[in-house]
Amino acid sequence: MSNQIKIPRGTQDILPGDSEKWQLIETKARELCERYQYREIRTPIFEHTDLFQRGVGDTTDIVQKEMYTFTDRGGRSLTLRPEGTAAAVRSFVEHKMFGNPNQPVKLYYIGPMFRYERPQAGRFRQFVQFGVEAMGSADPAIDAEVISLALRLYQELGLKKLKLVINSLGDKISRTAHREALVTHFSPRIGEFCTDCQNRLEKNPMRILDCKADRDHELMRSAPSIIDYLTDDSRNYFNKVTTFLTDMGIEFEVDANLVRGLDYYNHTAFEIMSNAEGFGAITTLCGGGRYNGLVEEIGGPETPGIGFALSVERLIAALEAEGAELPVKEEIDCYLVSLGDEAKDYTVGLLHQLRMAGFSAERDYLDRKIKAQFKAADRVNAKYVAVLGENELKEKKINLKSMADGVQIEVPLESFIEKFKEICR
Ligand code: HAM
Repeated sequence: MSNQIKIPRGTQDILPGDSEKWQLIETKARELCERYQYREIRTPIFEHTDLFQRGVGDTTDIVQKEMYTFTDRGGRSLTLRPEGTAAAVRSFVEHKMFGNPNQPVKLYYIGPMFRYERPQAGRFRQFVQFGVEAMGSADPAIDAEVISLALRLYQELGLKKLKLVINSLGDKISRTAHREALVTHFSPRIGEFCTDCQNRLEKNPMRILDCKADRDHELMRSAPSIIDYLTDDSRNYFNKVTTFLTDMGIEFEVDANLVRGLDYYNHTAFEIMSNAEGFGAITTLCGGGRYNGLVEEIGGPETPGIGFALSVERLIAALEAEGAELPVKEEIDCYLVSLGDEAKDYTVGLLHQLRMAGFSAERDYLDRKIKAQFKAADRVNAKYVAVLGENELKEKKINLKSMADGVQIEVPLESFIEKFKEICR
């Protein structure tokens, strides 16, 4: 065991017992997407590095510090995807989905993303994002739809302590005006800020507002707020989104400092946080927003877009913090217990027939004594245990016991499957 190889830092194995929870969450996400009419897209795990540099943005932490970038044997620079939006947009452009008769194009994805971040509770280097992207509509109703979809997923899985935070990052004109105000505000004392912020001042001053290192600096609190720089159009757009949310009975909080960590956003930006006690330092469960310039940036025609992504890891952590149990069903229809070599061999065929008929079924493979076989049946939560002993085999019968009420019946072996269908369905 001395030269045992361990799992890489920031990754995790999802073992049986837990993987069922993941499946349930994925099933629920897919079912919701069906209701909201989003269709699945599957893109590669790696993309050309340029895609993220252009899509996510050169000045973001993701591109500057967190990407898993490698050169392949053909000398190309490739990157394990740190998020799903850039890839969905690339695919949208590549497959000319802007020409689809069905507009807007509504996509969803579930899959692993990779970021070289410092691992801690709720933060992994490989994590699974569920995300949706709606491209081709600038209707604020779709912003509200996307937000409500994300919330529904959490709610239908049993989360209650949720907080929706929303902001508008405005359009180009709003942002240019806000940008100038930020530069004027921070410039005189930028020397008191971290080197990242000093670089951000020129390239992307809005990102200073999102800095964790300088969060408590007094200039942060007095910084100019984007809300004061919104154009009438942007303000009207934002008002529409919030009105639609209210119409849907969705509560929210407006936070003018919510800027998000990726460059492509404008207009609506939102995050869903957990309010659960003991959830830990990272409370953001889900993030998203509008990205009206991104399709053009990736080489497509001018197309508005909006989406969100959330990680299954943080969703599960929030469920645990709230003590919400997922209704994971861990039981099987029938466990075959046998006594004697002949009966034991006979159960091979019987087990096969049960499974062919669509039942989940199991038998002993370790030559266990009858008592241990019953214990094994208990461990897998068998609804029924069918017992085949030497005598039963001679008399061509099998004993079927319902574990829920202990009732036992004898069934002729030849009609066992038919009978089982009757009682187990
Ligand atoms: P993001 O805020 O970078 O946005 O990530 C979205 C969500 O992914 C986070 O709220 C969190 O649940 C999860 N997440 C991010 N990093 C980690 C990590 N290291 N470990 C565990 N979970 C993590 C995006 O990725 C955008 N693409 C969202 C979007 C879609 N905007 C528009 N469309």
